[in-house]
Amino acid sequence: MSQVSFDEQTGKQLEALYRTGDAVRRRSLVRAALGASPGERILDVGCGPGFYCAELVDEVGPEGKVVGLDSSAQMLELAAGRCHDHNNVEFHEADATSLPVEDAAFDGAVCVQVLEYVRDVPAGLAELYRVLRPGGRVVIWDIDWATVSWHSSDPARMERVLVAWDEHLVHPSLPRTLAPAMRAAGFEEVVMEAYSFASADFDPETYGAATMSFIENFVPGHNGVTEDEAKAWAAEQRELGQRGEFYFACLQCCFKATRPS
Ligand SMILES: C[S@@+](CC[C@H](N)C(=O)[O-])C[C@H]1O[C@@H](n2cnc3c(N)ncnc32)[C@H](O)[C@@H]1O
Repeated sequence: MSQVSFDEQTGKQLEALYRTGDAVRRRSLVRAALGASPGERILDVGCGPGFYCAELVDEVGPEGKVVGLDSSAQMLELAAGRCHDHNNVEFHEADATSLPVEDAAFDGAVCVQVLEYVRDVPAGLAELYRVLRPGGRVVIWDIDWATVSWHSSDPARMERVLVAWDEHLVHPSLPRTLAPAMRAAGFEEVVMEAYSFASADFDPETYGAATMSFIENFVPGHNGVTEDEAKAWAAEQRELGQRGEFYFACLQCCFKATRPS
């Protein structure tokens, strides 16, 4: 079954998701892990609609440079619009496994919720390694979707929906194998921090509630889930929210590492 398509409609949905409180929190965790300084050159692989690029360009300042790469032309258009008032940000269409940039060209790189969509993860990691200068830092963030714990009065339907949702990407539990894969790519000082994104309120600022529309749109036709079943699944969550009985939790994992000096 096909993965999610990063087209214009998904782009608009992602822009809304990335304005939520949990997405802002995630970006601040990623930026803290990277620790970009004025004057540095930073690469964002799978930049999506460009929220990280827009924030990182402020951190590196006028002497620094930010490059965003993505395989989706629609995402790059949104990203370019978001950064149009900076002349030290550039965007290119590219696959994460074949980056159109020189060896050792960057001081740091981020790759947030992208490798989980990339079939050949070792090739993506090899590219991140190649484009960092010796001593350069990488921050990779992915979700272990198997850690999702989501209350429903119909657990069998919830299970069918979550299995269907797993089909939206290639690696639903990439964090489990990412640290050794990063070491195999040559990175050292690989450190993982896992963060819970959890809420007992149906709050649109939180990751679970904000992701619901993506799931409701994607799952019909996957794992035998019908359109009606997806709608009923989402309706139940809204009702649980109204009754104060909503609960969602998952673990998102931040890996940082360096290319040896
Ligand atoms: C979930 S979005 C994350 C966007 C951004 N990193 C963020 O967190 O704000 C995933 C992004 O990865 C891009 N992507 C997926 N597979 C890719 C690949 N093989 N090479 C480059 N980009 C890819 C998609 O087009 C999309 O923009």
